[in-house]
Amino acid sequence: MGIDDIKLVGVMGGGVMGGGIAQTFAAHGFTTIIRDLNDDLIEKTRASMVEGRFGLNGAVERGKMTKADYDATMARFSFTQNIRDLSDCDLIIEAVPENLELKKTVFAELDAAVNHSAIFATNTSGFSIGDVNKAVSRRDRFIGFHWFSPAFIMKPVEIIYAPETSEETIATMEAVGKQLDKVTIRVKDAPGKYGFVANRIYFAMVAEARKVLDEGIASADDIDTVMKLGYNWPVGPLGMTKGARGGWQ
Ligand SMILES: NC(=O)c1ccc[n+]([C@@H]2O[C@H](COP(=O)([O-])OP(=O)(O)OC[C@H]3O[C@@H](n4cnc5c(N)ncnc54)[C@H](O)[C@@H]3O)[C@@H](O)[C@H]2O)c1
Repeated sequence: MGIDDIKLVGVMGGGVMGGGIAQTFAAHGFTTIIRDLNDDLIEKTRASMVEGRFGLNGAVERGKMTKADYDATMARFSFTQNIRDLSDCDLIIEAVPENLELKKTVFAELDAAVNHSAIFATNTSGFSIGDVNKAVSRRDRFIGFHWFSPAFIMKPVEIIYAPETSEETIATMEAVGKQLDKVTIRVKDAPGKYGFVANRIYFAMVAEARKVLDEGIASADDIDTVMKLGYNWPVGPLGMTKGARGGWQ
């Protein structure tokens, strides 16, 4: 499966990440279908993709997207509650909540429902790809594709390969990343560790910020302020965790 074979992309799970990921695929020419569980969740994702702080309306207002590209992007994404509507997808990006058993259940369902040649990618924040891929029969076409929030805006994507992942799959996902105007980095799966590269370093930093807060030596706002002003971070370590959980409204 090369990049030219990818005509239809399925995103499993709207939400904070799935909506932004789907928006990015659609904006870069991929026909994209998003599966979530009910009408309310789908409407929430649609609203965030179109009217949210980093949505398509704002991209046009800020001059980042022409009206013609906006119209084309809007026509390239759709929603479903039925997993069978993903059966013809060539690439699936999974963005359901961070629960290993849920992800394995979802991938087992997808493995049965989706075109056998399709690539499966998980946006897990840190589970070993060698654990998640046990749920599928296509382990050579199974990979980690880890985005940052807000997905439409942030540049990097970590590409995590297990021993079973084929070089062709890695190369295809690097080409997909390039088409999405992202910067990909390759990461070797590390069983027993949680968080690939960025999250392992980030979690260590947040843990230290929490320790400082718990010791009562500075307030949360002051901790964020000194890291923003002292190290030119756009967001402080404690403010960052709020945005990641709740979305960037
Ligand atoms: N939030 C972040 O900053 C961030 C960054 C990078 C990676 N991630 C990872 O991305 C994944 C999703 O995180 P999120 O923050 O977007 O979660 P979220 O809770 O905002 O969204 C998850 C969505 O999946 C849906 N869902 C649940 N079960 C489903 C199923 N069987 N089929 C289809 N949809 C289903 C939920 O209804 C929900 O809309 C997690 O693995 C998380 O660790 C999150």
